[in-house]
Amino acid sequence: SQYECILTEVRGDGPRKTGLITLNRPKQLNALNDQLMDELGQALLAFDADDGIGCIVLTGSERAFAAGADIPTMAPHNFMSAFKSGLISKNWETILQVRKPVIGAVAGFALGGGCELAMMCDFIIAADTAKFGQPEIKLGIIPGAGGTQRLPRAVGKSKAMDLLLTARMMDAAEAERGGLVSRVVPADKLLDEALAAAQTINGFSAPSTLLIKELVNRSFEGPLLDSVAVERRYFHALFGTEDQREGMDAFLNKRAPNFQHR
Ligand code: HXC
Repeated sequence: SQYECILTEVRGDGPRKTGLITLNRPKQLNALNDQLMDELGQALLAFDADDGIGCIVLTGSERAFAAGADIPTMAPHNFMSAFKSGLISKNWETILQVRKPVIGAVAGFALGGGCELAMMCDFIIAADTAKFGQPEIKLGIIPGAGGTQRLPRAVGKSKAMDLLLTARMMDAAEAERGGLVSRVVPADKLLDEALAAAQTINGFSAPSTLLIKELVNRSFEGPLLDSVAVERRYFHALFGTEDQREGMDAFLNKRAPNFQHR
């Protein structure tokens, strides 16, 4: 395949099929580095442009959808390098340009950028093993790809504040109660369920599916985009703090952080 960090396949047997994208850096729990995000962006746009494809399913492994942005890549940044490079590939948001429905099929960890990526899917089907969270605060940073904006929209202010401020994870049942995920299924049925949902959608009229997606997003996504841009700038700003160095150094050296609050 042309990709190193993801796998792509075409699934289904109707006239319109499903593009399946699997995040594939298993040793790093699918931590999202720029190469992976660039490949994901390319694969999403290729399926979106392919008239034989009706829907896209995005999934990870049994253990992790994605455990977040790649910490070793982020650790050495300071404010200026983060701000100048945009820190995180511009392809982080390519998924928002896709016009066909994108179903997130999440098993295991969906943390930090992994949770943010899942929330950029049109809906999420979760395995009963799924665990969602925004633990950036443990690293002395904040979410940078919409976590502070999409999570409150998905689960309400109280649960979002709790998750963002305490860094705790929520399991699939709590995520379903909160409204973050549309269904929870046994882990060994996850892919079948997501592909079956995709196949159902593939059987309907493409103009209807494209317009439903566009209109739901008009009510949901449009008003968020300005504040997601502000969030990205503050995300960069935190790379100017001592606590970011401490938080990431602590993770990389498998020790508890000792924050100085500066
Ligand atoms: C790079 C990561 C990683 C990450 C895990 N790994 N998360 N590598 N970036 N985000 C690596 C570990 O270093 C380890 O490598 C291997 O994956 C297995 O992880 P373990 O920690 O040994 O597994 P376990 O004890 O089961 O714990 C799983 C875990 C933990 C709870 C998911 O790994 C964890 O807390 N990861 C960090 C989660 C996080 O903070 N995410 C937010 C990142 S910030 P070795 O080589 O030791 O085997 C972020 C900002 C987004 O996402 C900004 C917008 C883009």
